[in-house]
Amino acid sequence: MQLIDGKALANTIKEEIAIEVDKIKAKGGKIPHLAAVLVGEDPASQVYVRNKVRSCEKVGFESTLIRKDDSISEADLLKIVEDLNNDDDVDGFIVQLPLPKHIDEHKVTLAIDPKKDVDGFHPINFGRMAQSLPSYLPATPNGIMVMLERYGVKTSGKHAVIIGRSNIVGTPMSILLSRKAKVGNCTVTLTHSRTKDLAAEVRRADIIVAAIGIAEFVTADMVKEGAVVIDVGINRVEDPTAKRGYRLKGDVAFDEVAPKSSFITPVPGGVGPMTVTSLLMNTLKASKKEVFG
Ligand code: GUN
Repeated sequence: MQLIDGKALANTIKEEIAIEVDKIKAKGGKIPHLAAVLVGEDPASQVYVRNKVRSCEKVGFESTLIRKDDSISEADLLKIVEDLNNDDDVDGFIVQLPLPKHIDEHKVTLAIDPKKDVDGFHPINFGRMAQSLPSYLPATPNGIMVMLERYGVKTSGKHAVIIGRSNIVGTPMSILLSRKAKVGNCTVTLTHSRTKDLAAEVRRADIIVAAIGIAEFVTADMVKEGAVVIDVGINRVEDPTAKRGYRLKGDVAFDEVAPKSSFITPVPGGVGPMTVTSLLMNTLKASKKEVFG
């Protein structure tokens, strides 16, 4: 069994990005600039956005954080998006989800200029990804693809089973793993809440991507010997002995699954750190105008 150390890999990639930023600076080029819009006080969103902004600083990017109260109107938020679309200094930006209930997330996503959509959530980017055209790839699936590539995991002809069909993880993951590409060429099964005998589907997998949001859902009896196990879950499980009163658990019962796997990602320290790195990679692409020219 080999542990896929997402934290170490994320740091390596951040160092590579920082070197590239230094080169841009030395040539007097424009420093990549990411803006993030955070609405309200959702504790998880605050942590995620703080990490994104800190990571920008770490690699030498410029960053702007726009914080708004959760009473902001949809129209005012759309105006912020429009201003960011038109701000030549901002290469890419994100609007952190979830948004308050009175705001239509879909409308906000559609308002973001696809050229600046470094989250890769706009249907233009999603469609370009599906057709293997240059696009901003969504952060978590892209982070997983980079992990598979850098750890030399063989994917061609393998059977990948994805658990969960969300727009931001499961569905794009199914597209990326099935694409004709260096990392890809998998036969993919996308499972979800209506899948019959989900355990039997997962048992057939050479590669498992667990993105269901239920702590320790994937148990050893569901895993074929030698499978590659990618755990996307970040579940807070109450634990009075922990400093914060909770502990983070993945979607995989790590201790019992790890001995059966060929590669496995831990939680924390696996997929999570790669997600922010993907956003930085997309922002660098945006500043170099690599995707849309
Ligand atoms: N909420 C949870 N994950 C994400 C993400 O990757 N981007 C944004 N904008 N919001 C999120």
